Amino acid sequence: MAQSKHDAIERNVFLLIVLALLAVSVGGLVEIVPLFFQKSTTEAVDDKGNSIADKVKPYDALRLAGRYVYIREGCYNCHSQMIRPFRAETERYGHFSVAGEFVYDHPFQWGSKRTGPDLARIGGRRDNEWHRKHLLDPRAVVPGSNMPAFPWLDRPLSVSIGDHMKALNMVINAGVAKPYSESDIAGAPAAIAGKTELDALIAYLQGLGLALSNVQ
Ligand code: HEC
Repeated sequence: MAQSKHDAIERNVFLLIVLALLAVSVGGLVEIVPLFFQKSTTEAVDDKGNSIADKVKPYDALRLAGRYVYIREGCYNCHSQMIRPFRAETERYGHFSVAGEFVYDHPFQWGSKRTGPDLARIGGRRDNEWHRKHLLDPRAVVPGSNMPAFPWLDRPLSVSIGDHMKALNMVINAGVAKPYSESDIAGAPAAIAGKTELDALIAYLQGLGLALSNVQ
């Protein structure tokens, strides 16, 4: 009896497609929907569920501008920002990445392509001057590097960062209040005045991954 029902499904391509889609959708929903409501993926908590909200802060105006430079220049094509929970990774890069560190990352920069090293915890590993030299001419500090040079970044920032903040207020739901207040937005142009794209990018890099950097 059971055999013949199975037979009927396998012989009827349409029925097979419909039932397969149903099985995949229900399975997908059961796996994915709970993640929207789980604290560890929507709030700033570490891998043990402790709050790290005091360490994970919304990007300030300069770092946010640097983040857009990072995205515009396609740094993510060669650099991931996601340390996997394996010994080979944690020995090299530090504590593995946890979802709570990325509550203000929109769009996230996790990636998986690693032509260069992971940058999730690059913050504080090098000094600003190293980054400046490296971005303008990687081979000046790392002989044999095949990272491209970004000499044009030494130019004034021109970005309406306040508008980006307003947009992020609409899309980020970090289980807390909106990331940017009216005064953050009003003060944004002054906060980035006179800075170069390079300054912003370096400020962004220097803040990456600090929330869990002391945990081993
Ligand atoms: C074509 C691939 C490629 C692109 C695009 C690229 N990088 Fe790299 N990056 C590398 C490679 C390879 C290295 C390792 C050699 C070195 O340190 O120069 C590296 C190293 C680095 C390092 C040093 C990391 C460490 O732990 O020492 C930083 C910081 C960095 N890149 C930032 C950036 C930023 C910011 C951008 C975008 C403006 C960028 N990279 C774009 C390939 C790339």
